[in-house]
Amino acid sequence: MCGIVGYVGESKAQDFLVSGLKRLEYRGYDSAGIVTVAPEGEATLIRAKGKITDLERKLVENKKEDTIGIGHTRWATHGEPSEANAHPHQAGPLYMVHNGIIENCKELKKALKGHEFKSDTDSEVLVALINSFYKDGKYPLVNAVVQALKLVQGTYGIAVVSVKNPDEIVVARSGSPLVIGVGHDETLIASDASALVGHTKQAIYLNDGEVAVVKKNSIEIKTLNAEPVSAKVEEIETNLSAIQKGGYDHFLLKEIMEQPDSLTETLRGRVDAENGIVSLGGPGLSEKELRSIQHLIIVGCGTAYHAGMLAAYYIEQFTPEITIETVIASEYRYRQAYIPKNSVAIIVSQSGETADTLACLREIKKQGVKTIGIVNVIGSTIAREVDGGTYVHAGPEISVASTKAFTSQVIAMVMFGITIAQAKGVRTSILKPYVEEIAKLPGEIKQVLASSADDVKKIAGKYKKYDHAIYLGRDTAYPTAMEGALKLKEVSYTDANAYAFGELKHGPLALVDDRFFETAFLPKGMLYEKAISNVQEVLARGGHVIAVTNNQKFDLKVDDVIRINTSLELFVPILMNLISQLFAYYVTVAKGYNVDQPRNLAKSVTVE
Ligand code: F6R
Repeated sequence: MCGIVGYVGESKAQDFLVSGLKRLEYRGYDSAGIVTVAPEGEATLIRAKGKITDLERKLVENKKEDTIGIGHTRWATHGEPSEANAHPHQAGPLYMVHNGIIENCKELKKALKGHEFKSDTDSEVLVALINSFYKDGKYPLVNAVVQALKLVQGTYGIAVVSVKNPDEIVVARSGSPLVIGVGHDETLIASDASALVGHTKQAIYLNDGEVAVVKKNSIEIKTLNAEPVSAKVEEIETNLSAIQKGGYDHFLLKEIMEQPDSLTETLRGRVDAENGIVSLGGPGLSEKELRSIQHLIIVGCGTAYHAGMLAAYYIEQFTPEITIETVIASEYRYRQAYIPKNSVAIIVSQSGETADTLACLREIKKQGVKTIGIVNVIGSTIAREVDGGTYVHAGPEISVASTKAFTSQVIAMVMFGITIAQAKGVRTSILKPYVEEIAKLPGEIKQVLASSADDVKKIAGKYKKYDHAIYLGRDTAYPTAMEGALKLKEVSYTDANAYAFGELKHGPLALVDDRFFETAFLPKGMLYEKAISNVQEVLARGGHVIAVTNNQKFDLKVDDVIRINTSLELFVPILMNLISQLFAYYVTVAKGYNVDQPRNLAKSVTVE
C-alpha cells in the first residue's frame, strides 16, 4: 500500500527519495511524488501518475541539490489515480505525505473555508488543517501538527516539511507505520525499513500517538499529549541481498525458490527431531497456561488465513480437547463472538501491519484473551502489540503475492500446536512423526522445487488460455486448494475458486464445462479414494483435470498429472502448494502480466 520516505542531511535528498520509493514499489501504488526544499525556502514538487520511472522522467529537468525532502507512492483510496491526487500535497508553505485514511475528512473540510482544494484526497484536507494552525509559519510546525491530529479520526502516518523551516521534518503515526533511520549527519524516514537498508542499520519505530521532529542530527519524540518519549534504537536485520532479485527474473520466483532456506530459518534452534521435541521461546506462556488452553482462535486475511486453516487441521490431529476456529479478520472484528475462557488467539500476518488483523488483535485483547503473533516483519505493529509470539523469520517478501511466508506460517503454527500438546502431556510417539517431518521439510521442498519446475512450466503454458479454474481438495488439501486458487487469481487474473471435494455435488459441479479446468489435490491417505471418486465425477462431465498427487501409481485418465515424489506423509499438502505457486507464476509469465505487482493489489493492506 502507500509508501513514505523522507530525508534530511547533507546529501542530495532527491537521490534517497527516489531510491527509497523504488524499494517500496513492491507494496503496490498508482502514482508517486517527491518534494525537496532549498535552504532559502524554494520547494521543488514533482508528481506523476504511474510508476517511479514516470516520476524519474520528470526529474531529469528538475534536478536539485536540496538536502531535505519527502516522497510518497500512492495507492488510491479517496480520488482516482492522477497527478493532482498524488502526494505530496500542499497547503501554504507546507507539503505533506500521508498513509492511511482520514475518516472525518468531510467534516474537517467544511471548516477549512480559506483553502482552495486541488485534489479529491482526504490527505489534502489534513495538510490544510495543519496549515490552519501553523498560520503560514507563525507557530512551531510540530505544535500545528499536534493540534490538527487531535481533531482527526482515522489512521495516519505522515511526514510534513515547511519552506519556512527547511531543516526539519515533522512525522507522526497512528495506525500506519513509520520508521526513522538514524545515520551520520543524516536522518531518514520510511514507512517500511526496507527503504533504509544500505543507508543505516539503526532505526527507531514510531508508536501510535507519537510525533517526532526530525533533523539531520537530532530526533525529538513526544506523544500527542506532549509527554517526551525516550526513543529505543533498534537494529534493522534485513540485508541488501534479501531485497534484491538475486539473478531471478521476478521476486515471486525468487521467493518461491528460496523456501528451503526461509523455512530453515523458521526452524532454526526450535526443532529437535531426534527426541521429537519443539521448543519455542517467543509465546511466553507458562506450562500451566499452555496446559489449560481449550480453544484456539486463529485470525488472518488472505494467505495468512489459509495458513491458519491448514495449521488448524494439523493441530487438531494431535492436540486433545481443543477446539480451533480459524477466522477472517475483516469479519471477525465486527462479530459479537463470545470467546470462551482458556482461549488463546493466534494472530497471523506476514507484514504485521494488516489493518483488519490489527483491529481484531485489539478487540480480542480487550476481552482479556492472550494473543500470540505469527509474524514475519520484525518490529511491525502486530508483533509489538501481541502478548507473545513467534517470528517466522522467512525474510522480506517483496512480491505482492505471499508464498514463502505461507509455508513458514503453517509450520510456525504447527510448532506452537506441538508446544501446547507437549505441555498437555501428549505422548512423544504421537508428536515425533510431525517433528521429524518438519525437520525434513526444507530438504523435501528443495527436491520438489528442483524436480517439478520445468514440468509445471510446460503445463502452465497449456492452461494460460483458460479464464476459469476450480481448485479441489479435502482435509489438509482443502486449505491447499484455497491457497492455490488465490495465488492463481491474484497474479494471473484467472477466475479461480476453491471447493472442498465433498461440496462439489452441492452446487459447483454445475460449472464444469470447456471453459474451466480443475486442479485436484490428491495426497495419499484416509480420504484419497473418496477424492478419486470426486475426480471421476468431474471427468464424467467433461472436466479438464490437472491431478497433483504423491501416488506414484496414479493411473486415472486425466488431462495432466503432476507427481510429487516424497517420503513425507503428513506435510504433502505443503509440497503441493509449491506446485500451485509455480503454476500461478508460470501462467502469469506466459500471459505477460506483471507478476510481482498485480493490478489493484498492495503488499500490506494498512487500510480497512
Ligand atoms: C495473497 C496475499 C494476501 C495477504 C493478506 C494478509 O498472496 O499476499 O492475501 O496474505 O493481505 O497479509 P498479511 O499476512 O501481511 O497480514
